Amino acid sequence: MEMMKLSEKLSLSRIIQGFWRLESWNMTTKELVDYMNSCIEREVTSFDTAEIYSGTQCETWMGEAFAADKSIRNRVQLVSKTGIFQQKTGGKTFGYYNTSYERVMRSCKESLHRLQTDYIDLYLIHREDPCFDPWETARALKDLKKEGLVREVGVSNFDPFKFDALNKAMEGELVTNQIEWNPVCFEHFDTGLMDYLTVNRIHPMIWSPLAGGRLFTGKDEYSVKAMTKIREIAERHKEEPDTIVYAWLMYHPVGAMPIIGSSKAERLDLAIKALDVKLEHYEWYEIYAASGQQVLR
Ligand SMILES: NC(=O)c1ccc[n+]([C@@H]2O[C@H](COP(=O)([O-])OP(=O)(O)OC[C@H]3O[C@@H](n4cnc5c(N)ncnc54)[C@H](OP(=O)(O)O)[C@@H]3O)[C@@H](O)[C@H]2O)c1
Repeated sequence: MEMMKLSEKLSLSRIIQGFWRLESWNMTTKELVDYMNSCIEREVTSFDTAEIYSGTQCETWMGEAFAADKSIRNRVQLVSKTGIFQQKTGGKTFGYYNTSYERVMRSCKESLHRLQTDYIDLYLIHREDPCFDPWETARALKDLKKEGLVREVGVSNFDPFKFDALNKAMEGELVTNQIEWNPVCFEHFDTGLMDYLTVNRIHPMIWSPLAGGRLFTGKDEYSVKAMTKIREIAERHKEEPDTIVYAWLMYHPVGAMPIIGSSKAERLDLAIKALDVKLEHYEWYEIYAASGQQVLR
């Protein structure tokens, strides 16, 4: 497995396993341990989670797996995130952000406790926060690094301006931006983020690489158009459509690292296979334009 160097201290496996959907997998701790080990056997050694997933339960379940098989934790690069919270108010649940110094410090320590580990390899600010003091957040992230509680830090879903703001306060120490990108989602091409990351040699982690399954199951116009082209290209290469999507994401010079959302090992294998697929240059543009959202001028 190719490892992507994010800094002198941290490299991630090119294909990353995501655990957001862990609750729906209905796994016992033993089954989760087995699945984690099957990822490691495939050299998919980077695992993505977040404080907010299943209302903090996702981290707890992963921690129980790390405790049940103590050999796992030091063979993986563990990624977690903070910044999204929920408040019950007026009988409803209200989602909001908090990236203050105290909250980031407290959240990280709580995540470490749930994950039953002494350190997180990569700690991310989960979403852009409109009430954001980059200097405050940076002070927390720097202190977490200094205390050895996290090895590296980054962000998720940040536009170039917000990324720059925090990276300035961090003196350039942010190592990634975890973003949504797939053949029906192009937000980060439109904001210029892809160029920003490419020129600064910051490799993004890619969430929902298959649009959360919508590419396969969606009846909307964008998904249908995109999949018609992807299936055609898959036939040319004698590969599955999934593999072509991952190959397309990894073709881009930004050096993207797709995060797999499935718990089915055969679907993970389809992603790993993409490392050996060579798309023609024009095929990248065929998929880029397929849904009809992006126009080549
Ligand atoms: N930073 C953020 O804001 C953010 C947001 C969302 C997610 N994430 C991270 O990104 C990871 C991946 O996101 P994701 O789960 O949305 O990724 P995804 O891989 O785009 O979607 C996974 C879903 O697609 C389904 N699927 C995969 N292949 C399929 C096929 N051939 N036919 C039909 N359905 C198929 C899977 O079903 P099966 O389970 O049945 O295989 C699963 O429900 C998450 O686990 C999380 O770690 C981050």
